[in-house]
Amino acid sequence: MKNKVFLNGTIYNAKDAKVSLFDRGYLFSDGIYELIPYFNSKPFLLEDHYKRLQESLKMIGLENPYTKKEWFKNINDFTNNSEYKNYYLYIQVTRGAPKDISDGVLREHAATKNYITAVSMFYSEIDNLQEKNIIGKKSITMEDKRWKKCNIKSISLLFNSYAKTLAYKEGAYEAILIRDDVITEGCSSNVFIVKNNIIKTAPKSNLILPGVTRSFVIEKIIKENGNKLLIENFSKNELLESDEVFITNSTQGILPITIIDNMKINEGICGEITKELYKTFIKYTG
Ligand code: PDD
Repeated sequence: MKNKVFLNGTIYNAKDAKVSLFDRGYLFSDGIYELIPYFNSKPFLLEDHYKRLQESLKMIGLENPYTKKEWFKNINDFTNNSEYKNYYLYIQVTRGAPKDISDGVLREHAATKNYITAVSMFYSEIDNLQEKNIIGKKSITMEDKRWKKCNIKSISLLFNSYAKTLAYKEGAYEAILIRDDVITEGCSSNVFIVKNNIIKTAPKSNLILPGVTRSFVIEKIIKENGNKLLIENFSKNELLESDEVFITNSTQGILPITIIDNMKINEGICGEITKELYKTFIKYTG
């Protein structure tokens, strides 16, 4: 089942699945996505990911094409035969192609027609977090030039992929984004800092994606470890002067950042609080 895809209710060999050139996802990035990690063949925080999928659909005014029961059945049927144990499931929902193009209008910015919503899914292998070495990564910082609806998990990732490619060219894993001297998030992660044993992360708003991992770390892991947490904005100076920095997302869990803009954080090694949070985190992904 390695290269299978789900497209509108049917499972295909990847090379046989076809979507229309006139799909609004293709023409306008008019769609949303979700990414669910599976560890040891089990979905992690599935309900939370589903909830965010629903919210993203709502925010772009796209009717959910399936009931929750149908979603979970489709997801289960599709992932049941996965030969990977640790992987992510990528789900994309686009407004789709017009039902009728006999009027000759193939592309128009405003979504004025009836469209056939397109739902696709595929999966890809990831590391098992239990076996992964928790090694600090490098990041750069960049001005956050995205639109101000970053809470929608939009497939329009031009800025994110552009910024992350710049990071890659500088040998960095992530680009941490700054808007009006406030750290918002990474291109594909949420950002946490630790200073004098207090953990800080930006509050939920339209300027960040409400990461499922971020919420889990806040509500479960930090509480369990008994760390102090402040959910408030912090500046680039605070980032660079912090004792520890880590980022969170579905595929990496918790990832220490030990070099930012070529400056070392905690002498370039993963800090103790981050290490302990990681240890607690992986108890849940077993
Ligand atoms: N991205 N912020 C942004 C901009 C993201 O793209 C992501 C995740 C996150 C973290 O969200 P979560 O904890 O729910 O994964 C924050 C995924 C991994 C991606 O696009 O591949």
